[in-house]
Amino acid sequence: MEKVKNDQQWWKKSIVYQIYPRSFYDSNGDGIGDLQGIIQKLDYLKELGVDVIWLSPIYDSPNDDNGYDIRDYYQIMKEFGTMEDLDHLLDAAHQRGLKIIMDLVVNHTSDEHSWFVESKKGLDNPYRDYYVWKPGRNGKEPNNWGSIFSGPAWNYDENTNEYYLHLFSKKQPDLNWENPALRNEIYTMMKFWLDKGIDGFRMDVINFISKVPSLPDGEVKEGAIYGDGGPYFVNGPKIHKYLREMNEKVLSQYDILTVGEMPGASTADAVMYTKPQNKEINMIFTFEHMGLDSGPTEKWDLKPLNLVHLKKNLTKWQTELHGTGWNSLYWNNHDQPRVVSRFGDDQEYRVESAKMFATCLHMMQGTPYIYQGEEIGMTNVEFESIEQYQDVETLNMFREKHSLGVPTEDIMKSIYVKGRDNARTPMQWSEQVHSGFTKGTPWIEVNPRYKEINAEAALEDKESIFYHYKHLIALRKKLDVITTGDFNLLFEDHPKIFAYERRSENEKVVVLCNFSRDEIVIDNNEILSVITTGKLIVHNYKEVKAESSITLRAFETLVYYVK
Ligand code: NOJ
Repeated sequence: MEKVKNDQQWWKKSIVYQIYPRSFYDSNGDGIGDLQGIIQKLDYLKELGVDVIWLSPIYDSPNDDNGYDIRDYYQIMKEFGTMEDLDHLLDAAHQRGLKIIMDLVVNHTSDEHSWFVESKKGLDNPYRDYYVWKPGRNGKEPNNWGSIFSGPAWNYDENTNEYYLHLFSKKQPDLNWENPALRNEIYTMMKFWLDKGIDGFRMDVINFISKVPSLPDGEVKEGAIYGDGGPYFVNGPKIHKYLREMNEKVLSQYDILTVGEMPGASTADAVMYTKPQNKEINMIFTFEHMGLDSGPTEKWDLKPLNLVHLKKNLTKWQTELHGTGWNSLYWNNHDQPRVVSRFGDDQEYRVESAKMFATCLHMMQGTPYIYQGEEIGMTNVEFESIEQYQDVETLNMFREKHSLGVPTEDIMKSIYVKGRDNARTPMQWSEQVHSGFTKGTPWIEVNPRYKEINAEAALEDKESIFYHYKHLIALRKKLDVITTGDFNLLFEDHPKIFAYERRSENEKVVVLCNFSRDEIVIDNNEILSVITTGKLIVHNYKEVKAESSITLRAFETLVYYVK
């Protein structure tokens, strides 16, 4: 394979759209989205103007965690279609100038993967060391770590009288990256997909792959049942070695986009991972801004967002990576609740707040990610009964809290605010039955608001959230300062306004966002002079009044450009 020079860095100018295939579009009526369904919607994505599509896992899987538990890295999940369908999708996307990146889930596999089936057979099986096995301690788990999906992080195997590690569900055993044979298998598999023509990888919890080999007990934090193993596997001791090896053996040989999902990575870590000289990956997903509305022990512990904290955090990521590393920008994905419900107003000001959040993010430096449905302002869902939920994390948590006597009402409240199924209800295409997602019975119920919120309606309304996103995407293509400029936060301590400027030698963009329902008067002289000399390039209210002072209405956003 000829080495392609990666000096243009097209991914710095790109906008990525994430598809969760199971919930995107069902072409054959089995209630589950599929690859043919994605092909049918490519023109919709082209209309939006995105450059890259990230597909959440489409590999063969028993779906304990909707494809994040891979049984066979070389097969397509039957419900999604065939390898031929994928080839068609790649062709159809490339013909339209759209790139496709795939999810790379290599911290763990499914327990039904043939490597694990072999690994379980005996201590001397050649695949034993593909996974992390340990004898018990005093008849119990080898250490006190909790799984991210509730319960202990270890599962006992009777056959060999040992435990295997699973940071996620017990059907997701962790791979042992200490083993060079395993690493080489992964690299071979990555090349298989890249040689097929995919344009990169989104790497699932990739900063968890290196564990401290002695696997010490973790601290049991207040209110927690298990120990926190994080310090022994997040950004672990050999992570940079593994990523550099992966880069040398695979990534460097292709002109691709690589993004690492990295909970627990600081800005300093992010620079290490993404600085081009280090030859690791292009960009990471930070989690810091997603944790600001949680208490200290877990995400289910609800806490209101403090805007000053959010501004401080995003500013840190903007300034500390500027000129050194590269960042991804996101409010939403398949694990996060819908931003308009989470931090905005999904009732009276749904449209205004969705547009404001989009603007606030899309004017920053980094590669923006749009999660399916975000571009039409899809909202969280409140199902009445736990039976209607599908997500393994949510269901495990419900069971655990229920057994501890937490009232159902309280558990449901956190699910409504933080549950992952908020993001996973089917894409709302039209006001047809099941939101036009399927002609069959959807695998998870549709959000009842589909009659009011759907893509068909959005496409017909020039003032819709969809066209606002389209406009922001076009601006990024047009104005270099959005990609390259520096970042300067304004009104640092203001509890309701998020305002900043992006500056390059000859250009400046000033972004004003009201994160509240209150009207706020801005009478700062510098801003007023920008308003009078600059050009208004983004707004989310039909009529804009800006003269000697400016009043930002509920969730109003204004962006001015000065040359
Ligand atoms: C992160 C993924 O985004 C999430 O959906 C998944 O459950 C875990 N990693 C485990 O693969």
